[in-house]
Amino acid sequence: MADRHLAADTPELRARWDAFEFSPAWKAKADKAIAQYPEGRQKSAVMALLDYAQRQVGEETNTQGWLPLPVMEYVARYLDMPIIRVVEVATFYFMYNLVPVGKFHVQVCGTTPCMLRGSDAIMSACKARGMSVGHTTDDGMWTLTEVECMGNCATAPMVQINDDNYEDLTPERLDAVLDALAKGETPKAGTQEPGRHTSEPSGGPSTLKDMVSENHDYRGEW
Ligand code: FES
Repeated sequence: MADRHLAADTPELRARWDAFEFSPAWKAKADKAIAQYPEGRQKSAVMALLDYAQRQVGEETNTQGWLPLPVMEYVARYLDMPIIRVVEVATFYFMYNLVPVGKFHVQVCGTTPCMLRGSDAIMSACKARGMSVGHTTDDGMWTLTEVECMGNCATAPMVQINDDNYEDLTPERLDAVLDALAKGETPKAGTQEPGRHTSEPSGGPSTLKDMVSENHDYRGEW
């Protein structure tokens, strides 16, 4: 599991981000999120606003975005919340980046099902391309993070890259995905297993096979 720590609060950080405010497009989304909550509960929109702020930072830096402290302070002012309450949320959820990340944030699941299905080889494939956990490559392209279960255990091993998951990976399949991303292409997300569409049994169903062609009534066979 990667370290979680806030970026240092430096004069340079302040100079770059103290004037942050939502662009008109992100402000419209933020106000829409806030309006979904009843009067007096507007602070409940904090997760959405942190996500929007991170995405705007990403747009401004041509990366996947992160949450500098002045940006979190802006969100706190926007919602009339104590800054510590915002920081508590941002530091708890892995979807928020607390330090700068690259153009592609490669999050490798290392929890047991993925580990049993080869996540060590997936991590090694990332390292073979110059990535190291907790760091961004010098060209600003790749940030590597090890994460806990992402809910794709049935199609393990998997990685999340930016907003997409890539599943049923082998080192070779991961290389193909990363090569495509590096070239500016959009590789197919989801399972990389040929012939598999989502998380249905690989190679076809192994139980309730009569349900494939009809809504079969099994009750007489019990
Ligand atoms: S263990 Fe990797 S997605 Fe669940």
